[in-house]
Amino acid sequence: MKPLEMSSIAEVWRSALTIIADSLHGYGQDLQIWFPWGKTWRGHDQKGILPPTDLPADLLKAKGDRFAGRFWVCHPQGGVSWLLCVKPSSPQAPGLAGWAPTPRDTAALVLLAEFLRLESLLGLAVRVLENRASERQGHWDRVRNLAVTVGRHLGLAPAELVDLEMTALLHDLGKIALPNEILEESRPLTPAERRQVEGHSLVGAAMIREIPGLERVADYVQSHHETPDGTGYPRGLAAGDIPLVSLIVGAVDAFDAMTHYRPYATERTYKESIQEMIAQTGRFDDRVLWALQDVLKRLGILDTHPMVNPPTTEGPAERPRPATPSATPVPESPPQGGRTLPPSPPAAPTDGPQPAPGAGTRASSRSTPRKGTSRRSRRPGAGRPADPSHTHGRTSP
Ligand SMILES: [Fe+2]
Repeated sequence: MKPLEMSSIAEVWRSALTIIADSLHGYGQDLQIWFPWGKTWRGHDQKGILPPTDLPADLLKAKGDRFAGRFWVCHPQGGVSWLLCVKPSSPQAPGLAGWAPTPRDTAALVLLAEFLRLESLLGLAVRVLENRASERQGHWDRVRNLAVTVGRHLGLAPAELVDLEMTALLHDLGKIALPNEILEESRPLTPAERRQVEGHSLVGAAMIREIPGLERVADYVQSHHETPDGTGYPRGLAAGDIPLVSLIVGAVDAFDAMTHYRPYATERTYKESIQEMIAQTGRFDDRVLWALQDVLKRLGILDTHPMVNPPTTEGPAERPRPATPSATPVPESPPQGGRTLPPSPPAAPTDGPQPAPGAGTRASSRSTPRKGTSRRSRRPGAGRPADPSHTHGRTSP
């Protein structure tokens, strides 16, 4: 799973680190929090994720010890053995042995432990899905980042953004239940197969509903193929009954499929793809499309071409590419009928998630078939515009 510096989940880390850093202020600065993750240790500081590392095993037993010029303390909480460390504020500063966490510190660490487990489960689910559909590697990261950015742009509350992020990651979880024969199939689906594919939103929602606390996310996942014109599935909901989170995920997911997996992906700019979505009246929420377009405009990539699978050595020379649509823009006024927007958030960090695998370059040729082009792009009829909300196979939203 990619780093989560730009995600909503990362904001939970940042706020918890701020609470504990305040508590440890008298002992030192530059707080780092480490926790065991498999056979390595992962760390966060207030700027983001630290590189995984090996720490001496006996450090776990340390109580206020100095190590590598820092004070360290082990503080088990929420089922996790947390290692906290700070740089001493002075040579005479006391070690951390005398530090007593406040109830606020304890609550922050318990919350972090819960999010750590959640992050691990999300990563596991995404890896399983990516193993089923290798061509879509990176899809979930792009959808997650872009959906959260659009959600911020539309003024969603922090709790809604967390739900949005989880929905974006898990929306197609139900495809785990689909046989490979259908996922890999290049011919048109039979009506029965189509119904089976369309069942993935119900299957995914049922799976997620089993996880305590994710009931809302399950509802959002169930509705991610509902459309404002009432022709979506599984329930054919009317526009006003579809959660905004589901509308965002549905639109961003379709947009990523159009711009990375459609036969014409390298032929169209982001703007042209959005305009095709706008032309499909009733298929997507107007507020979401406006926000999506504005986000890309502010990133300076609206008029550029998407990055897709890298060319092979047989391909023509590459040319410099713009960034992927994965950074955090600042919001401005909403469209007619949109929500009132909050003040502009801080600028996106420069050390955010890296472009997804296969997203760093794109073929500059728009007419020569390349190796590595998705199977879908080699399908009969691949040259015609496709329904961006088509649900068949790997490229479906
Ligand atoms: Fe889906």
